[in-house]
Amino acid sequence: MSDNVKVEFGGKTSEYPVLSGTVGPDVIDIRKLYGATGAFTYDPGFTSTASCQSAITYIDGDAGVLLHRGYPIDQLAEQSSFMEVSYLLLNGELPSKDELDKFSYTISRHTMLHEQLATFYRGFRRDAHPMAIMCGVVGALSAFYHDSTDITDPKQRLIASHRLIAKIPTIAAMAFKYSVGQPFVYPKNELSYTANFLRMTFGVPAENYEVDPVIESAMDKIFILHADHEQNASTSTVRLAGSSGANPFACIAAGIACLWGPAHGGANEAALNMLREIGTPDRIPEYIARAKNKDDPFRLMGFGHRVYKNFDPRAKVLGKAATEVLDKLGINDPVLDTARELEQIALKDQYFIDKKLYPNVDFYSGVILSAIGFPTTMFTVLFALARTVGWVAQWNEMISDPEQKIGRPRQLYMGAGPRDYVPVDKR
Ligand code: ACO
Repeated sequence: MSDNVKVEFGGKTSEYPVLSGTVGPDVIDIRKLYGATGAFTYDPGFTSTASCQSAITYIDGDAGVLLHRGYPIDQLAEQSSFMEVSYLLLNGELPSKDELDKFSYTISRHTMLHEQLATFYRGFRRDAHPMAIMCGVVGALSAFYHDSTDITDPKQRLIASHRLIAKIPTIAAMAFKYSVGQPFVYPKNELSYTANFLRMTFGVPAENYEVDPVIESAMDKIFILHADHEQNASTSTVRLAGSSGANPFACIAAGIACLWGPAHGGANEAALNMLREIGTPDRIPEYIARAKNKDDPFRLMGFGHRVYKNFDPRAKVLGKAATEVLDKLGINDPVLDTARELEQIALKDQYFIDKKLYPNVDFYSGVILSAIGFPTTMFTVLFALARTVGWVAQWNEMISDPEQKIGRPRQLYMGAGPRDYVPVDKR
């Protein structure tokens, strides 16, 4: 631990301890600042604020490092499986073979949805965005699984966690099926987590669905790459919602709502739409110019990141995977050429160099997902599916943290001062 930090304010000096994590920047513990000085800190967007202690995920944005429980994301993406990474995130250690089998078995036994939830889907307009359906249906789980909403009971928390991880692929596949007017396909538990999801999404009751191992492996990699990402906006939303004691299903629904935005999980949909709009590499300079123009709100979607200021390690894995998947599936998509060319041009452009803007995870994921056959509206749903495990792990960590309090940021008030009410006929 470093020396205390002294703050001189209002003619008084107060001291604050500096806390050190295992790796990463130290933090100044300012919990007593308001009591000692009467002042708050001001940090919109939490650019310098650590909101909690966590032992799940570590990011070094300058070095382009992402670790889950200490393991580098590229090693996990290349060598592990989504079920194994889920176990790791939840429990802190890689499972033994027996532990993994038991965990996968448990998850596979919770994949079915309460049958009444199928009726719930039918209340949505046919053209509803699948993320709208996700927000609604995941929130509605709290109305169906009353035996796992008591957050003070560790056993109920565990069952809720398993249910969320197990049911989210079923919910996502049903959202897709509903939007295309096909019958829902029930889970088949002998399949892997990812194969089961693909079958529920692309299979139809009239035919057997053979899972293509190339697609299964690419999908599993995409799930691993999206599994967790430290205290990002949606994870912080889940924690904030959970800090009031809300039940886990409601908290995950809040996370899904936050993820939907184009500055967060919605960027993969926006990135592919942008690449399609650009169309051919010769139009790239026009879009680069627009991204640099201060008077134009246009941004290169899939570029830039709040934390990664060197490169996003997930984008590296996905850039490689995009080529592999398209090659193996025999797809020649000009969008991939446009993406590669755009990346090369932007990386050499002084504006992007100065602002440290690099492709993020969303830049290539859309190209792969579209090759697999997903419509763009499903992209963020897939992100939500994978991130559910991260949200659940972070939520559990928060509930078990003895320092946990209800989240309650303060503000710099800039509104009117006290004034007397004036009746409407006197205004
Ligand atoms: N294209 C062009 N310029 C950009 C881009 C971009 N994609 N991203 C940032 N900039 C510029 C901004 O205009 C700003 O310039 P200025 O300093 O001259 O005003 C500067 O870079 C810093 O941008 P901020 O918005 O302040 O950076 P912040 O860290 O708040 O934003 C964000 C990060 C939201 C991801 C941003 O880079 C962005 O909007 N990117 C496009 C959307 C996207 O791909 N989101 C996915 C993020 S990854 C994820 O959620 C999984």
